[in-house]
Amino acid sequence: MVTLGEGDTPLVRSRAIGETLGCSELFFKLEGCNPTGSFKDRGMVVAVAKAVEAGGTGIVCASTGNTSASAAAYGAYFGLTTTVVVPKGQVARGKLTQAIAFGARIILVDGGFDQALELVRGITERHPIALVNSVNPDRIQGQKTAAFEIIEELGEAPDYVFIPVGNAGNISAYWLGFSEAFGMEWISSRPKMMGFQAEGAAPIVRGEVVEDPRSVASAIQVGNPASWESALRAKDESGGAIDAVSDEEILEAYRLMARKEGIFCEPASAAALAGLLKRAREGFSFRGKKVVCIVTGSGLKDPDQAAENEPTFMEEYPPELSAIERAFAVD
Ligand code: F0G
Repeated sequence: MVTLGEGDTPLVRSRAIGETLGCSELFFKLEGCNPTGSFKDRGMVVAVAKAVEAGGTGIVCASTGNTSASAAAYGAYFGLTTTVVVPKGQVARGKLTQAIAFGARIILVDGGFDQALELVRGITERHPIALVNSVNPDRIQGQKTAAFEIIEELGEAPDYVFIPVGNAGNISAYWLGFSEAFGMEWISSRPKMMGFQAEGAAPIVRGEVVEDPRSVASAIQVGNPASWESALRAKDESGGAIDAVSDEEILEAYRLMARKEGIFCEPASAAALAGLLKRAREGFSFRGKKVVCIVTGSGLKDPDQAAENEPTFMEEYPPELSAIERAFAVD
């Protein structure tokens, strides 16, 4: 009854990268096509509807940016007071712009996402405000629908799902979705969950909390993931892996996806493809395998990244046909 149009995102077949990997069935799930440009909307619509059902009038979240943009949108839609607590100076411009546009109250803290999450957990223990981070199980229930969509589209489960890992809610949600589908005998096998953290923010890989997580992929700068345990379960039960990719590998995948596939994602989202490329370099064969990369958010979220890291190919000419014609002239 209440929706901003989240879900039903495209599953696009790779035309170039899959072929270079010898993988004829590589797909990209374009979660940037959700209403606020990231997968967060799938869970946010459920969490916010449930908060309203419980008689709530306010919601709060900590965020590296996308959760705050989504909470702000659904808060506005449901007529709630939305407060977002975000790390000062570490949120991509597009995401902060969304929270401002949707009229959320924005609290900047001089700390990272982990501290922000601790603060909002403290607030919601003391005040009747709904916490809409992925520690809220309603968020996971919404996010698991992406797994159902992949099954519907492919007619079965893929062999591998490559996915970025930050606070680790999403990998847990996908695993829940695939496991429920398996339990209902809708699919006969479950995919291997391949989660990738950024090297400078890889607590699960290192097996210890990272005090000052750093990455070009600001969305996954998380040093102490709330869903750490369930992410490990997803990895172990699926026979998958949780590994790290460097910022260079992330930016390589970010550029490749845009240039070779026409898909502009934010850096954190590129960690999934970076992980696949890393595995391929390590000698894993994906021949004959169905592989899905979860492209979690739109590139427009972080316009400064594209501007900073891309060589510019802009040329300037006077607005005259003869001048423009020279630009098209072939030597
Ligand atoms: N990709 C993007 C674009 C994200 O924004 C996030 C998380 C992730 C991947 C990782 O998902 O946390 O479920 O493991 N963003 C959170 C936020 C932390 O506040 O927007 P996760």
